[in-house]
Amino acid sequence: MILSPTPETLRALAARLRAGGLVGMPTETVYGLAARASDPSAVAAVFAVKGRPRFNPLIAHVASLPAAQALARFDERAQRLAAAFWPGPLTLVTPRRPEADVAELASAGLASIAVRVPAHPIAQALLDVFGEPLVAPSANRSGRISPTTAAHVEEEFGHDLPILDGGACPAGVESTIVGLADGRPAVLLRPGAIARAAIEAEIGPLENAIGGDAPQAPGQLESHYAPSARVRLNAERGDGVGEVLLGFGPARPGEVDTLSASGDLTEAAARLYAALRRLDAQKPAVIAVAPIPDFGLGEAINDRLRRAAAPRPPSANGT
Ligand code: TXA
Ligand code: MG
Repeated sequence: MILSPTPETLRALAARLRAGGLVGMPTETVYGLAARASDPSAVAAVFAVKGRPRFNPLIAHVASLPAAQALARFDERAQRLAAAFWPGPLTLVTPRRPEADVAELASAGLASIAVRVPAHPIAQALLDVFGEPLVAPSANRSGRISPTTAAHVEEEFGHDLPILDGGACPAGVESTIVGLADGRPAVLLRPGAIARAAIEAEIGPLENAIGGDAPQAPGQLESHYAPSARVRLNAERGDGVGEVLLGFGPARPGEVDTLSASGDLTEAAARLYAALRRLDAQKPAVIAVAPIPDFGLGEAINDRLRRAAAPRPPSANGT
């Protein structure tokens, strides 16, 4: 059920989280499926509800930099990035403190932990009232399109899940994830809502990831962020029956919707997942997408589109 974030509702949902329950939470990137990070059963419930085939590590969401530093050790690069981008859509993967009160399952038994301080006022309010870290993967079933409205979350999980209504997510793609292992070059583990160039302006060049949310091996892309329709990329025009064309920039022949008519990558990122859901609801055989430039937020948009277009495992996204 979709709830407006009154103080009473926030208190009731904090109590639900303390009891091991799950809550749909808006953030500035996408909606998250939040659970108490220190509670292994609650974390396990997140994996179960999402239908995640493997125990991917989750991001711990905290209210402030000191709360983040209680979980993880920050070197100078991490301090710089936190000062520049928090609260905001940046996740840092840094060495986990042994005393961090986060279930091992949440960080998949790794020596590192992913942490972020979200900027969304309702996420901040919930973290404040709850007073502890929340793990929150995107609130979609595994492999499917991430939700950018409360209604999308309800489409994924039905009416039983309480979902705080924060309107449409302003950024619209997930946080940028930067890996900062001791004595190692900084790695872009996932392109996201903060452009690579903005991060490189703070700490210098980022290496590209193998692993993390990125492909496990060069050339191998996992299906993810996928609608039911097949996805065709770099389409200059809509092709034939059963195909809908999602445009970018000046209108193309056969275009039925656009990510941004003016060619604005920030607008395109904010509209991406809602547009894919809207077109998928028309039940086309194929969603074709116009070429998106690969700079700025285009890097994150193209990453998600390539995964949406990747070959599907036989069991995923059946019908
Ligand atoms: O914008 C976001 O980050 C959203 C909102 C809800 O905050 N959350 C999100 O969570 O995208 P999720 O679980 O869908 O993606 C988190 C990714 C995982 O796929 C994993 O690859 C990476 O973070 N991750 C987490 N811990 C990690 C670690 N210790 N090392 C490497 N990657 C890690
Ligand atoms: Mg996700």
